[in-house]
Amino acid sequence: MIRRDFLKTIGAVTAGAALGLPAAEAAAKTAVTAADAALPDEKTSLNDLRLPIRSLKPRTSRQITVVVIGAGNRGNVYAGYFKQYPESVKVVGVSDILEHRCRRMADAHGVPPEHRFGDWSEVFKVPKFADAVVVSTPDDVHYAPCMKALEMGYDVLLEKPVSPTERECKNILKQAHKYNKIVAVCHVLRYAPYFLALREVVRSGAIGELVSIQHMEPIQYAHMAHSYVRGNWRNSKQTTPIILAKSCHDLDILRWIIDKPCKTIVADGSLRLFKPENAPEGAPLKCTDGCPHADECPYNAIDIYCNKKWHLGVFDLEGNKDPDFILQRLHTPPYDSYARCVYHCDNDQPDHYVSEMVFEGGETAAFSMEAFSPYGGRRTRIMGTMGYIDGDGTTFTLWDFKTRTPKVWNLKVSEIPEYKGSGHGGGDYPLARDFVEAVAAQDPGLLSSTIDVSIESHVMGFAAERSRRSGRKEKV
Ligand SMILES: NC(=O)c1ccc[n+]([C@@H]2O[C@H](COP(=O)([O-])OP(=O)(O)OC[C@H]3O[C@@H](n4cnc5c(N)ncnc54)[C@H](O)[C@@H]3O)[C@@H](O)[C@H]2O)c1
Repeated sequence: MIRRDFLKTIGAVTAGAALGLPAAEAAAKTAVTAADAALPDEKTSLNDLRLPIRSLKPRTSRQITVVVIGAGNRGNVYAGYFKQYPESVKVVGVSDILEHRCRRMADAHGVPPEHRFGDWSEVFKVPKFADAVVVSTPDDVHYAPCMKALEMGYDVLLEKPVSPTERECKNILKQAHKYNKIVAVCHVLRYAPYFLALREVVRSGAIGELVSIQHMEPIQYAHMAHSYVRGNWRNSKQTTPIILAKSCHDLDILRWIIDKPCKTIVADGSLRLFKPENAPEGAPLKCTDGCPHADECPYNAIDIYCNKKWHLGVFDLEGNKDPDFILQRLHTPPYDSYARCVYHCDNDQPDHYVSEMVFEGGETAAFSMEAFSPYGGRRTRIMGTMGYIDGDGTTFTLWDFKTRTPKVWNLKVSEIPEYKGSGHGGGDYPLARDFVEAVAAQDPGLLSSTIDVSIESHVMGFAAERSRRSGRKEKV
């Protein structure tokens, strides 16, 4: 849609609908407000945008079968979706090194004993018995199962980040081509209605030519402590640099919205707070060891988990959220790693990370990942030659410089019944749906995040990390 048509449908027509005026009258009103010096209070809606938001029920002519490798948090998200649409997809195998996790998922899906596995490698010791595998193991356990699955003829739903090294990422791409199999990368934000709408408005020409983007990923202080100081992604050498572990979604979204290759990237950032020299005097190694600073420390594990009940997914609580039970978990291995003082962990991930990118048409993007914020999500400002967009991760406002009438997109995805439980702004389930459809039809074109497009934003992330370490601007 060209800019004029877009303004006609979204501007004049939507304004007319909102005000109960015919389109011509609404257009005249818009012209009057354009002459005003101050911006009008009145905001019209962008919610009529025709987005590819459709039923989450997969459109398939057959049932596909899936093996879930890694029955943790993400594995359960996808398996939970599959269970709702048995005519299209069935979980027929489960692998997890934690026996109780494997059993729980296998029982829920009626998986026979011979297809319940421990380590991922056991899955591939038996002849191929399903259409696809979900690789939802930790970052450093993506490469080997994905490569083996492709070799054996499985399609793959692969959690992000693809793999901790650039070489491995590129090898997975080559392997997918070699065996002509589908690899869908879980860049779930591409499937979230908010980001679909944002991209659609930019593509429509509503802001003229896109010139630059300011994008921020506020991690939220307690989330940072949980995942990147105490938790699974605390150490960049054991997992993946935080720019990929946390922010490969953001690099991917920037590349996707700008819709041009990134040419150069320069990055900076460091670990400012979470290190031993910043520990307050007398702080013990664990919060559970009677810390004298417990009352004033915002990172106090007992307060975060037992009182606030945040990030409980890692404790295998089986629904029991009693504070004493959580405290007991904090005293028990392996869960006691989450009781560690944030100043006494084996972490090295930066807590602030800035990067600047230049794209092929000269567009620029500035991206900040920030640990020290009270909220999570995303904040995005998009500057165009004819307009501006300001978004907070759930709603955004479009400002057209000519009409000066702000228009708001604020569709509440959480209120669409089918999307209930679909995390990441609603993106989790549509990704799973598109994967099921792509495998059933053997058509990767049904996916927005194939390995071919996803690899590019990973390469941007590796270049950013090289730049952060070397101080040089890197070519992508
Ligand atoms: N798409 C997203 O937005 C998103 C969000 C969170 C996490 N992730 C990614 O998803 C992946 C999984 O994260 P998670 O939060 O579900 O972690 P998790 O720890 O909850 O689950 C991983 C599971 O893999 C199992 N596992 C480990 N090694 C194994 C092996 N050798 N064989 C079989 N199973 C093994 C673990 O026991 C665990 O149950 C990670 O790569 C993570 O970065 C993606």
